[in-house]
Amino acid sequence: MIDVTPLTDSTSLIGDAAALRQRYEDEGALYLRGVMDPELIAWAREKYRGALADEGLIDPVVEAPVWTGRVTKTWRPCDALGTTVWHEVVKQPELNAIMRDIFDAEPVWIPIAAHRSGFPTGPVAEGQDIFSGRHQDGFYNEGMLFTICWMPIRDVDMDSGSFAVAPGTHKRGILHDTSVEGNAIPFGTIPEDAWRSADFRVGDVLIFNYLTAHTALPNPSDEIRMSLDVRAIPAWAPQPVIGAVDSVDGTDVTIRTEDDELVTVHVSDETLIRDMNPWPRIPTNELERIAYPGAHVMAMAREDRSVTVLRRNFY
Ligand SMILES: [Fe+2]
Repeated sequence: MIDVTPLTDSTSLIGDAAALRQRYEDEGALYLRGVMDPELIAWAREKYRGALADEGLIDPVVEAPVWTGRVTKTWRPCDALGTTVWHEVVKQPELNAIMRDIFDAEPVWIPIAAHRSGFPTGPVAEGQDIFSGRHQDGFYNEGMLFTICWMPIRDVDMDSGSFAVAPGTHKRGILHDTSVEGNAIPFGTIPEDAWRSADFRVGDVLIFNYLTAHTALPNPSDEIRMSLDVRAIPAWAPQPVIGAVDSVDGTDVTIRTEDDELVTVHVSDETLIRDMNPWPRIPTNELERIAYPGAHVMAMAREDRSVTVLRRNFY
């Protein structure tokens, strides 16, 4: 039985910029209902279903995305959608108005779209750590002050592979322990009663800070949970360099941005060079696994152009 304390519903604060911002700053998370256009999400859902059916993971004639049991090597099958869905979602006026209120600035949407499909994980065992996937996105993206907007693409109940956040953890700094395997946030770091979840409905959006700990919950159902998360950075904050690699010279990577500018950034042993999967980090001397001429990348650089994070960008 998965029984997590329900999230505080902040929907009534929409339209009151100061109150929304205050709640976001206090909690590091905002649960808002009825924000996303259900027709848009229904359209996205069909796209997801197409991508899942293409890999034989669901039977496309059945409405419920019941997992066929087939195993795929594709890390996130619905990422095949590229930016198709992302482009429409980040255009939504209601979502943009909310983000503007929270940031007190324009949101800059960064082209990271995580199209998640949460596979069934089997029955939940007595005493199982249901928050074992706990992490902070900020740990893997140093310097990127983004806010994450997580939304269900299909209704999902708390006990069917939902999603949880731990409000307030954004004030505790990085909770990951680099001395343990996988750099996990150790069990016990976040009290069990700090977690919040919901029976999410299409239209809902859960907005949270880059340091707010979160996790997918176990999915003892037989259906694949579909969700999307997109990210925005306030216009006043440092922005990542996004584009195609023009050239690599030792540890200097020159990127041609979408504005057709050439920007050179410097990678060092301190740079987290990340592939999306498999983890862990890529050593500096294998930089060219990610940065090779023509490769699409995203680099978060400090003012002196030293890179904190270099990641592949699929779009
Ligand atoms: Fe995450």
